[in-house]
Amino acid sequence: MGKGISIGNSESTSVSKEEFVSELEVVRAGIKELLPAWRIKEKCNQKSGMLRQDFLTFSADFSANEVYVAKLNGFVIGFIIFRRNGYISIFGVHPEYTRMGVGSTLIDKVKKELSEVWCHVRITNKTAIRFYKAVGFEKSKVVENYYSNGDNAIVMTCKTKNNGV
Ligand SMILES: CC(C)(COP(=O)(O)OP(=O)(O)OC[C@H]1O[C@@H](n2cnc3c(N)ncnc32)[C@H](O)[C@@H]1OP(=O)(O)O)[C@@H](O)C(=O)NCCC(=O)NCCS
Repeated sequence: MGKGISIGNSESTSVSKEEFVSELEVVRAGIKELLPAWRIKEKCNQKSGMLRQDFLTFSADFSANEVYVAKLNGFVIGFIIFRRNGYISIFGVHPEYTRMGVGSTLIDKVKKELSEVWCHVRITNKTAIRFYKAVGFEKSKVVENYYSNGDNAIVMTCKTKNNGV
């Protein structure tokens, strides 16, 4: 599998998004993916200031809930942690691999299993808000002072086309 693609979005490449996505492997995570997913979370935090969870919070969430990881050539480049009630708790893509369809691929995987998915998004996280709108989510409400620094959250929700399993 794989064609040895090791590109980032800062480099010029002739690989289309479709070709890139076709190289992804999306699998349920086990404990061996905890540290790779944590490193992606940290990369996201360094790049955007979002995903501020500490390691204890992250690992507790990872262990207690469902997790998919997206791998490229065997390396984790994105992850999504979600609950069976459809709540997405932490979700991130390595900053060098954004805008290549990794986030959409992970969301699609979760949507296939559930009748509704939803999440809190920091009101300042314009990228995530654009992303969620692009993949079919709608703003359902604002929760004031949701985050520890007093930032508001937007609850974004997407009803899927299936009845869940
Ligand atoms: C939000 C995030 C997961 C999106 O992942 P991604 O792999 O870049 O998403 P995709 O490539 O599937 O993007 C799908 C669409 O979303 C929209 N989108 C994504 N990033 C965008 C951006 N920076 N600006 C505008 N639109 C954007 C676009 O419509 C995009 O389609 P296009 O590239 O064909 O225009 C990623 O940016 C990320 O990890 N951010 C930091 C962590 C974070 O904020 N997580 C969410 C917490 S709630």
